[in-house]
Amino acid sequence: MRIARSLTELRTLLPAFRTRPLCLVPTMGALHEGHGSLVDRGRAEGGFVAVSIFVNPLQFGPSEDLARYPRTPEQDLAFLAKRGTDLVFLPRAEEIVPPTATTTVTPGPAGNLYCGASRPGHFAGVLTIVSKLFHLFSPEIALFGEKDRQQLFLIRAMVRDLALPIRVLGHPTVREPDGLAMSSRNRYLDAEERKRAAKFPKLLEETARKWETSPPKTDKEVGAIRASLEEALAREGFRVDYVAFADTETLLEITVPSPCPIFLLAAIFLGKTRLIDNLTIGPESLRV
Ligand code: PAJ
Repeated sequence: MRIARSLTELRTLLPAFRTRPLCLVPTMGALHEGHGSLVDRGRAEGGFVAVSIFVNPLQFGPSEDLARYPRTPEQDLAFLAKRGTDLVFLPRAEEIVPPTATTTVTPGPAGNLYCGASRPGHFAGVLTIVSKLFHLFSPEIALFGEKDRQQLFLIRAMVRDLALPIRVLGHPTVREPDGLAMSSRNRYLDAEERKRAAKFPKLLEETARKWETSPPKTDKEVGAIRASLEEALAREGFRVDYVAFADTETLLEITVPSPCPIFLLAAIFLGKTRLIDNLTIGPESLRV
């Protein structure tokens, strides 16, 4: 596994990786099995796998957790080496986001919904850094997790809208045995919160099954399903940030009657920790 810690090192190392398709896996480190599954997928696609580790300041709001976001570079490198990663890019923040940089990539209106509504500017920060990484690597393939459904949606839109010659692949969410989606932020949870957190995906699953067995026929019925999920989440002591049923093609909140598949998207606070999750309502064969 080769490690590039600067743009110069990256430019020197990259040509050697051009004999097979280059598969880029952008991350912010504090790696877990979710990230590991993206590396495995890249290898399965037959590519050289490059992982970037960069805690991107542009995607954190002023009152968010940038300073305390977990940074575990030595563990991450050991994890990636074991996983068969070919190249790791571990730059210094100032080199990727110099204080003089002012140009940004702005998402379309879907960037202002859901996580974008709670975290103004977040997705512009994500798209700006992801497009910069795309330019630095020129990967044939880029891999992202479905765990961050809105992020995946907006990156696909950016690639399409700007005609970037990159194949974006989404990869299913990897979960802990109790169903909680793996996330670098799970380590903020104390033991009691961690135990309780498993209720979050369970309630989303229950809601999806409810929808599938008796699909709502009116806007009012959709509203009732959403309200009952919000109440159930609140009963478990979660503070609901948002719960939404979204069209898989536009990500807009759906109006009924609406055929499956449909995304169920949600974000909650458990204590100070914000957790997001999503799943697709509808038969496996219709999954996108
Ligand atoms: P990060 O949260 O580190 O996630 C890196 C990639 O891993 C993303 O594509 C994310 O969707 C995926 N991922 C995270 N948890 C996962 C899980 N449980 N199962 C499957 N995939 C999972 O997302 C970011 O970083 C940043 O926004 C980034 C794209 C790197 C831009 O800064």
